[in-house]
Amino acid sequence: MKKGYFGEFGGCFVPELLMPPLAELDRAMRDIMPATGFKAELDGLLKDYAGRPTPITSCPALSRELGIDLWLKREDLLHTGAHKINNTLGQALLAKKMGKRALIAETGAGQHGVATAAAAARLGLECTVYMGAEDVERQSANVRRMRLLGARVLPVESGSRTLKDAINAALRAWISAQSTTHYCFGTAAGPWPFPDLVREFQAVIGREARAQMLERTGALPDLVVAAVGGGSNAIGMFHAFIPDASVKLVGVEAGGSGRPGCLNSASINLGRPGVLHGEYTMLLQDADGQILPSSSVSAGLDYPGVGPEHAHLAKTGRVEYAVACDSEALDAFQRLCRAEGILPALESSHALAYVLRQAGAFPKGSRVLVNLSGRGDKDMDIIEKELGL
Ligand SMILES: Cc1ncc(COP(=O)(O)O)c(C=O)c1O
Repeated sequence: MKKGYFGEFGGCFVPELLMPPLAELDRAMRDIMPATGFKAELDGLLKDYAGRPTPITSCPALSRELGIDLWLKREDLLHTGAHKINNTLGQALLAKKMGKRALIAETGAGQHGVATAAAAARLGLECTVYMGAEDVERQSANVRRMRLLGARVLPVESGSRTLKDAINAALRAWISAQSTTHYCFGTAAGPWPFPDLVREFQAVIGREARAQMLERTGALPDLVVAAVGGGSNAIGMFHAFIPDASVKLVGVEAGGSGRPGCLNSASINLGRPGVLHGEYTMLLQDADGQILPSSSVSAGLDYPGVGPEHAHLAKTGRVEYAVACDSEALDAFQRLCRAEGILPALESSHALAYVLRQAGAFPKGSRVLVNLSGRGDKDMDIIEKELGL
C-alpha cells in the first residue's frame, strides 16, 4: 500500500506550513517509538496511571433477554473515563521525547480534551484545548475538568461551533507554535501520520480483548461492534480481529434524529469521498463539495468525516458500517443502566443500540463483544433533558 494511504483513502493534504511538523512526527514515530524504552515507559503509564488492562464484562441479564452471549470491553473504567487516555499518554510521551514543551488538542465530547489535559499534567507539559462553543455548552462538566487539570480551554465560535471547527482552529494554531508544541490529535483521522499513530496507541484495546475472549469463553467472538466518530476506539478494537475471518466486525455511525433528509453524522453510509482536515475520506458534503453540518445527540460522534482506514475497510467489505439514531442510543443507554448497572457514554450507546436492534437476526447464543468506549457521567444533563427526567 502507498505510504500514508489505506487503499485510495488517507494522504496528507495540508498547507505547506504544516508539512514540517508532520514530517517531524513521522520521523519520531520511526526513531523514538521503537527505541529508548518508549514502549516500556508507555506500558508503565497505561498500567499504573490509566488502569490497563481493562476487563471484559459479561452481561447476564441482557444476554438472557436477547438470546446471545453479550460481553463489553470496559474502556469506561479507565482514568478520565474513556479510551482517549490510551492515545494521549502515547502522544504526550512521544512529544516529551521530541523535546516539545506544550500540547494543543481539539475536543468534541470533551473526553479527548480531559485525557490530553491529564496526560499533559502528568508529563509536565502545558496544554491548550480548542472546543466548539456548542460543545462547551453541552459538555460543561468536561470543560470544568480540563480547567481543573490546568488546561486552557478556548471556545471556537466559527462554523457549526463543534468538533470540525475545533480541529480547524487547532491546525491553524499549530502552524505558528510548531517548534515548541505537539498537536495531540484525538482520533484515527486527519493528515498522515495521525491515522497510523492514533491506531497504534489504541490497538491495545483489541489485543487485550481478543486474548480475554479466548481465555474467558474459549473462542473468538462471532461479532465485534464499536461506535465510529472519527474512528479511534473502533479501529483500536477491530485491528487485532481483522485477520480473523470468522469474526464479523461492525462499526456504528450516528444517524442523528433518524428522520430522512435530516442532519446526521453517518459519513460512510451517507457521504462521498472528499478532502477535509488533511485527509481524503468519506465526508458529508453537498453537491458542490461543501461540508455539511453533522448532528448527533452524542458530541463525540458529531463529525462529518471519518478516519481513512475505516473508509478503506468499508470499501473492501471487511467491516460493515451500520447506523443507530439518537432515540435508539438513548434507549440502549437506559437498558444497559437498568439491566447491568453500567452507565455508558452516549457514543458507546450507539454500538449497543445496533446490537439491541439486530439481536433477533443473530444465530442463537452468538458471542457478541461491544466496545464500551466510555462512561456516561459526562452525558447526564443531555440524557435527563432528552428523556424528560
Ligand atoms: C466515549 C467516547 N466514545 C467514542 C468517541 C468517538 O471517537 P472515536 O471514534 O475516535 O472513538 C468519543 C469521542 O469523543 C468518546 O468520548
